[in-house]
Amino acid sequence: MLGRCVVAYVLFVCFCALSGCGTKPDPAETSPQVLYDQHCAKCHARAGEPGGPGIGGSRGPNLTKIGTERDAEWLTAYIRDPKSKKPDPKLMPAFGGTLTDEQIRALAEWLAAKK
Ligand code: HEC
Repeated sequence: MLGRCVVAYVLFVCFCALSGCGTKPDPAETSPQVLYDQHCAKCHARAGEPGGPGIGGSRGPNLTKIGTERDAEWLTAYIRDPKSKKPDPKLMPAFGGTLTDEQIRALAEWLAAKK
């Protein structure tokens, strides 16, 4: 009986770790929504939107329709290194050193689908 509880508990903890319900950002996280909330929303959400500033504007442009202008290839390269696509990307940081290629790709595809 006790053994079963322990197994259930361990499974629960593993599931939690995998699904990212802990508080620490998981370096292996590939869910684009979670990545976006962790790394991008502080600049790319409009005032009043979830993750965005309470008052005033946000620093980055609104990305809710970015898929109408950019495709996944462009976005992958841009997120990895904005300078590869724009000579003066201002405050937009390069994420090549922060995120893995897999994570960047997941984000790019997710953004490209926003139309
Ligand atoms: C420190 C603030 C900041 C963070 C964090 C940030 N961005 Fe940006 N982003 C900007 C700014 C500022 C621009 C506008 C750059 C310009 O002038 O072209 C921008 C532009 C963009 C664009 C538009 C490119 C275009 O011209 O169509 C995309 C797409 C984008 N960011 C994606 C992301 C993603 C994905 C993340 C998270 C991995 C992220 N950004 C994190 C500030 C930020």
